[in-house]
Amino acid sequence: MSQKILVTSALPYANGSIHLGHLVEYIQTDVYVRYRRSLGDDVTYVCAADSHGTPIEVNASKAGVSPKEFVERYRKEQHQDFQRFGVDFSTYYTTDSDENRKWAWRIWDALKSRGLIYKKSVEQLFCQKDGRFLPDRFVKGTCPKCATPGQYGDVCEKCGTTYDPRELKDPRCAICGTSPVVRASDHAYVDLKKVEPAIRAWVEGEGHLDAAVREQVKGWLDDLQDWCITRDAPYFGFPVNDADFPGKFIYVWLDAPIGYLSSGERYFADEAPSADRLDPAAYEATYLAPGSPSRLEHFIGKDILRFHAVFWPAMLGAAGLKLPHRLAVHGHLTVNGEKMSKSRGTFVTARTYLDAGLDPQLLRYYYAANLGPGVSDLDLSLDEFRNRINADLANNVANLASRVFALLERAGGDLTGDPEEGIAGVTREALRLARPAYQALEYREVVRLVNQVADTCNKRLQEGKPWEAPTSPASRTLLLSCGRALRAISVMLWPVMPVFADDLCAAFGQSRPGTWAADFDPFVGAPVVARAKPPQIARLDAKQVAKLVAAPEASAPAPAAPPATGFIGFDDFMKVELKVALVRAAVRVPKADKLLQLTVDVGEPDPRTIVAGIATSYPEPEALVGRRIVVVANLEPRALRGIISQGMLLAAGDPPRVILVDEGVAPGTRVK
Ligand code: 2FM
Ligand code: ZN
Repeated sequence: MSQKILVTSALPYANGSIHLGHLVEYIQTDVYVRYRRSLGDDVTYVCAADSHGTPIEVNASKAGVSPKEFVERYRKEQHQDFQRFGVDFSTYYTTDSDENRKWAWRIWDALKSRGLIYKKSVEQLFCQKDGRFLPDRFVKGTCPKCATPGQYGDVCEKCGTTYDPRELKDPRCAICGTSPVVRASDHAYVDLKKVEPAIRAWVEGEGHLDAAVREQVKGWLDDLQDWCITRDAPYFGFPVNDADFPGKFIYVWLDAPIGYLSSGERYFADEAPSADRLDPAAYEATYLAPGSPSRLEHFIGKDILRFHAVFWPAMLGAAGLKLPHRLAVHGHLTVNGEKMSKSRGTFVTARTYLDAGLDPQLLRYYYAANLGPGVSDLDLSLDEFRNRINADLANNVANLASRVFALLERAGGDLTGDPEEGIAGVTREALRLARPAYQALEYREVVRLVNQVADTCNKRLQEGKPWEAPTSPASRTLLLSCGRALRAISVMLWPVMPVFADDLCAAFGQSRPGTWAADFDPFVGAPVVARAKPPQIARLDAKQVAKLVAAPEASAPAPAAPPATGFIGFDDFMKVELKVALVRAAVRVPKADKLLQLTVDVGEPDPRTIVAGIATSYPEPEALVGRRIVVVANLEPRALRGIISQGMLLAAGDPPRVILVDEGVAPGTRVK
């Protein structure tokens, strides 16, 4: 039976261009949406530009335009970029809308009438020159812990310490550079403790959160802090509609998630095909009321979990609306193993990707191949991207299609009948497993299944050699089987690469079924025939992929040029100080799947701390205690998850299976 679902992705700030980091989420969500639509479900996928807040107001004024004009420009650009990457929103609205104001006031009133809002005077840094209170990111100063200058008002990037902006040494307004003063102002707070049991019940609810995420949220609930939901002028946002808080504005993080509800309302009232239109009351009854006949599913990044898993259920609950059925949380994107960085040239926008002449479907495929349901970060390694596309798509799937196509032309006539059992078995099993994998957001498993089917067919072609006697019954059966298996591949791959998948199917005179039913059998249907040239995937070369990363900004220190010969000089080698170290202690780094924190003795008076990405290979860190390892002892200390790592250990192999080098590693294994 078809299921109605309201699906959302987080609302991007209308304050910048869409980049490949954003796209992880929108592609993950869009794949899910397409998967559910391919099952025949009635999915409405809403998103919007998150249009309020201080940074937008400040940047609009810098750009010399009104905030409204500023956000509209970005909203349009973002929507276009998403469309180019195949992200198929039902609507891409804005939080600066009449609908959203109405909803924000309604939720405020609901919080108020339940006695959840109270007033408190708070001290903050205030810039007298700009006449404004300064949010954390608008103050810069010296870290009170490690004395590193140029740190923001909330956290030190160097040592990871978090603090109140008032604790910064020599604080400066990030807009004008003058020293702010401390000033008090009244604000509205939400008393979350009063609704803690209801939030907790939702957090514990079946299917709402992934297990690891649930534990993290429970940690916050154990130490619940009240939430400030107002800001002082100047601010771009909705004014508070409450005489107890004159002159205040609603904090952007209150009205942002409300944008999910209001964008849905707008879609059904004005943008949906006329047969699907719903007035606001009918929309609420269908999608938002408790017990309404639809699911509500949100996709977000792990950085905004607290807003969605603590504050958002509190808001919905207070307003008497239903709580989400699922909050799917993903990790962040790294590029070549590092956080995207403008100064390193690895901050890749959607436009840069398109300008490099790369097909957006390839990025969708790569992300799918690396996405599971957890919150681990996803790495866009340029080499892996190229290898993955070349090995899976160019050499396996597309190659299979073009081989079959060429042979079909020689096999004569339309092919029908029973398939080879081997190919049929693998294909049917893949189809069976792909559905729950999609549902569980295990896209990498779907990608594996697709490749398994293509691989099986390619192997059978090698064995069966249908080119030797293309019209023989055995050859015709083999080609028929491959043509039908490609139809199954098309069904499985469609949510990820819709255009490619449709072309693939059509090439052999096949069609995707209207709905992907549990008993869908790709081996019955229209004859297999060479109808149109199948879609090609050109092999990616390193030069093309390298276009994604720009030359680093001039202000950044230039990275050392790679040696042209492939050798490093002896002098370079001598710079690296390798030392044997004895592991004294080893523990997991909280909330980091891959990291262990080691305490090692390198023959110095004090032990050193080393943070290493070997947790997946050493799930029981205690077993490392007493082992001798090799470390690079003169590497510049670096903060990882707030822990200063004083060196790097050498391990061998490719992640996730890396082995310490004292373990009898095979000769020739790369040490890194
Ligand atoms: O973190 C962000 O980019 C926010 N603009 C996300 C908002 S999601 C939702 F709450 F609107
Ligand atoms: Zn200032």
